[in-house]
Amino acid sequence: MQSFRFSLRFILPLALVVGLFAYAVMPVVNDMTVRWFVRDLEARSQMLASALQQPLLEYVADKNQKKIRQLFDRSVQEGGLYALGFCSPSGQLLYRSSTYPVVLGCRAGGAGSETQRSLVDLPDGRVHVTESQVRQGTEVLGQLILVHDMRYIERRTAETQHYLITLFALLAVVISLITVFIAHLSWRGWINAVKGILHLDERSSRSLSAPPEVQPLVGDLRALLHEMRVDRRGEGVSAINWTPEKLRSLLHDELSGDQILVVSNREPYIHTRTPEGIEVRRPASGLVTAVEPVMRACSGTWIAHGAGTADRETVDANDHVAVPPRKPSYTLRRVWLSKEEEQGYYYGFANEGLWPLCHIAHVRPVFRTSDWEQYVAVNQRFADAVIKEAHSEDPVVLVQDYHFALLPRMVREKLPRATIIMFWHIPWPNPESFGICPWREEILEGLLGNTLLGFHTPFHCKNFLETVDRYLEARIEHEASTISYGGELTEVEPYPISIAWPDEFPRSVPDCRADVRRELGLSDKHLLALGVDRLDYTKGIIERIQAVERVLELYPSLIGHFSLVQIAAPSRSSLDEYQNLESRVRALALRINKRFSNGSYEPIILKIEHYDSEDVNRYYRGADVCMVTSLHDGMNLVAKEFVAARDDERGVLILSQFTGAARELHEALIINPYHIEQGAEALHRALTMPEGEQRERMRSMRILVRDFNVYRWAGRMLIDAARLRRRERVTARIHSQSRKALRRVV
Ligand code: F6P
Repeated sequence: MQSFRFSLRFILPLALVVGLFAYAVMPVVNDMTVRWFVRDLEARSQMLASALQQPLLEYVADKNQKKIRQLFDRSVQEGGLYALGFCSPSGQLLYRSSTYPVVLGCRAGGAGSETQRSLVDLPDGRVHVTESQVRQGTEVLGQLILVHDMRYIERRTAETQHYLITLFALLAVVISLITVFIAHLSWRGWINAVKGILHLDERSSRSLSAPPEVQPLVGDLRALLHEMRVDRRGEGVSAINWTPEKLRSLLHDELSGDQILVVSNREPYIHTRTPEGIEVRRPASGLVTAVEPVMRACSGTWIAHGAGTADRETVDANDHVAVPPRKPSYTLRRVWLSKEEEQGYYYGFANEGLWPLCHIAHVRPVFRTSDWEQYVAVNQRFADAVIKEAHSEDPVVLVQDYHFALLPRMVREKLPRATIIMFWHIPWPNPESFGICPWREEILEGLLGNTLLGFHTPFHCKNFLETVDRYLEARIEHEASTISYGGELTEVEPYPISIAWPDEFPRSVPDCRADVRRELGLSDKHLLALGVDRLDYTKGIIERIQAVERVLELYPSLIGHFSLVQIAAPSRSSLDEYQNLESRVRALALRINKRFSNGSYEPIILKIEHYDSEDVNRYYRGADVCMVTSLHDGMNLVAKEFVAARDDERGVLILSQFTGAARELHEALIINPYHIEQGAEALHRALTMPEGEQRERMRSMRILVRDFNVYRWAGRMLIDAARLRRRERVTARIHSQSRKALRRVV
């Protein structure tokens, strides 16, 4: 039935078109046929008239009526004529064949020209009449009238018409049959190709040759399937309850305890000399927040820049120190950099070049050759450290962030069998924006030394694939999200980073509320919004403060009863942009505080200093609202930390739409931080949100952050790495077997 309907789809329009064509063509064909016949009659009449001329002259001169009659009747019988007549020049019918229709008489005006033709409708039907002058020298003796019957022509025309209609009908049937046959064949071909793509695995389906008409679909289908497979893989992965123990056992099962090396610029523990002695500090870094619990779970060695004033004093002869200090579970290997190296590589190329290049925050990147040279040298230095720390030829190396774009290729050159996984913690821009980097090809080539390259969101992955496509001669499989360059394969995948789900908090939420307000000299009922960031221009701190000013303008009843506490850890402070930002933030806070102050009341409570995680947690738990207003942010872990800290299921998160976190935490109040009124309205809504709504939103976000925690982030990457590692090992084994076989043949 379905196939009949499918066939009808072709047959009906075809039949309609052929029918219309026949309808339009038929009158033309009729007309042409009649004209052909008439032309034929005329020629025959001409010939007959000439043949009759001579005997007629003789018989007319003799006025031999009998002979003329016989001549006419014979000619009618033999010449296919209907009738013959002869008229005098005065128009009198003198002689005629027995068939001559008397009503026809003699034609008027016959004396004018030599031959005249006309169609005449008689009671019995239409006839064709040819009048031809009969002359003796110059003297006109009369008109010979030849009459042809047109009725048989009309019959012929009707027959032709009949044949034509039959022919068109036959044509329509044949064309329809052929079309339906071809359509069925193609249909089967398409269905088989689509089935092939759906049922074969990713690799085999790639070698399947699909008909050309299906080709445009194939890419989309494969991409869709890949997405579904990734999701399914993700579902399997998320069905696991991700804990440090789970990650450890996964490492054991999937990577059979292979050595793990982490490389990052920022070290997880900084030893600083103070008047009271050496202090250990955890830096304000999303990267450290995420990777440290993973390292605790899987041991290994973390290679990072030793930037603390007492770092050298705390390492052994191999520059190693066991961390965390209270309960060591992995090794921190410090790499030393000179002031010039740090200036060029970290402040210069990484933070004045790549950082603004990858973040759309309207700060222009600065690229200097001297910075680039230091960046190359420092990447090489860290790569050498990796190679030195590696106990085998195939360790698992986890490279962190934009400080080490070149390192993966450098390590790959020395340890070709290593599994190198890199996570890019910041956004990846579109190809046009990235294109302004003078060393764009080198950076891309460096990154394609990775086995696996991770970004926070699928959008950043897409940007990266498009950038490689634009600037390198590489083979890109968009559906599989792989790039083949120089004979090596890099898989590019999204891995949204997260945090470790916290254990019990030392103080209850009511205690934290009371503590925080007491510390700030505020009443118990004072409403508090909180901002926690590095002091960075990408974080939208200015816009956040402006939103606070606006909310006070719009809702003056809040004046005196509401403040924003902004904790801003100083960061990259030797750079002009960061110094400018600090001055602007301070000036803005001062102006707003002056504007709304009465007595000790400050709407903006600025804390430009480093807070450790315990203090930050106290603030998360003591605040009513947390404001994350980044202008652009790969993920933003403050948003997730706030949610994780609120085991009372209270508090409202205001979250910029330009963060990776906004793609996961849909129950936050999502805002465009550039729109100050929108920020202010969101703030007012957050401060007045009913408890029930707060609870509902917070509960849902907490489930997400708990399940999609940092162990899952690392676990997913390591599972993928293990898969790629197995594949590489099998490929290597196949190559070596085929080489052996070849040698035997030779
Ligand atoms: O966001 C990128 C990032 O490297 C984070 O991973 C980290 O939180 C932050 O920058 C730290 O910056 P820095 O190490 O320069 O202080």
